[in-house]
Amino acid sequence: MPDVLISNEGPVRRIRMNRPEKKNALTLAMYEAMAAAIEDAESADSVRCLLIAGTPDVFCAGNDLNDFVTMARSGGLGAPIIRFLHALARSQTPMVAGVGGAAVGVGTTMLLHCDQVIAADNAVLMTPFVSLGLLPEAGSSLIAPRLMGHARAFALLVMGKPLTAEEARSAGIVNTVVPAAELDAHAFNTARDIAALPPESVTTARRLMRGSVEEIVARIDEEAEAFKARLASPEAQKALATFLSRKR
Ligand code: COA
Repeated sequence: MPDVLISNEGPVRRIRMNRPEKKNALTLAMYEAMAAAIEDAESADSVRCLLIAGTPDVFCAGNDLNDFVTMARSGGLGAPIIRFLHALARSQTPMVAGVGGAAVGVGTTMLLHCDQVIAADNAVLMTPFVSLGLLPEAGSSLIAPRLMGHARAFALLVMGKPLTAEEARSAGIVNTVVPAAELDAHAFNTARDIAALPPESVTTARRLMRGSVEEIVARIDEEAEAFKARLASPEAQKALATFLSRKR
């Protein structure tokens, strides 16, 4: 079974992260597959809404930490990651996410690009970037303070304080919290409702509401440069090695 499942269900394209044995941690191949599915939706007239989903127990544990170790050695930040982040920022197709279980790192920051986020009551959003010696990414340093105010964004992105589904709703990241068993259906129905609206009006309203895409893309690139430098830092090396060598 592929690590990302892409299916068109009527006018909704579902992009499901499907690597549950590693808590849907994203590999470079997964970023590529997700980026391609988002980019391609622009030219596929039949796709009117994207739906990003995880598996029943987990949304996404963030970037694969083994890949971070490899990237720190090479000094790069895989091109597929940047491609995916740009695709999120540049997407003209509306995006819905259905989040159950943990959403860590980019698992949380990708939600800031979505138009509607449905969370299961067991969802937990967390971005332990700074405790890993790293930095907020995916444009989150720009979008999160706008969305929830500086202090709440600081608690999430810098202090690494997790948000429950209800807290994420109060912060404006999540708009509906549902029982875990209803997550998939609720998220799909939301995407289907958006897909049924007049597409040109949706696209234009969305573009006007989101403001400057180029500003977000520029911030993603600025964050990525700083992130690369942090990856090679002794703090990050130590934190990554600790996670990857833990005994359970
Ligand atoms: N990268 C690589 N592997 C990961 C991973 C990641 N980001 N997150 C989880 N995994 C792997 C674990 O190493 C473990 O693999 P193993 O069974 O081969 O040992 C497997 O997924 C299950 O993870 P586990 O930690 O046992 O599950 P859990 O339910 O106890 O905890 C999380 C789930 C998501 C809370 C926890 O795995 C976690 O904190 N992951 C790291 C998240 C992170 O820091 N991401 C980067 C943010 S910048």
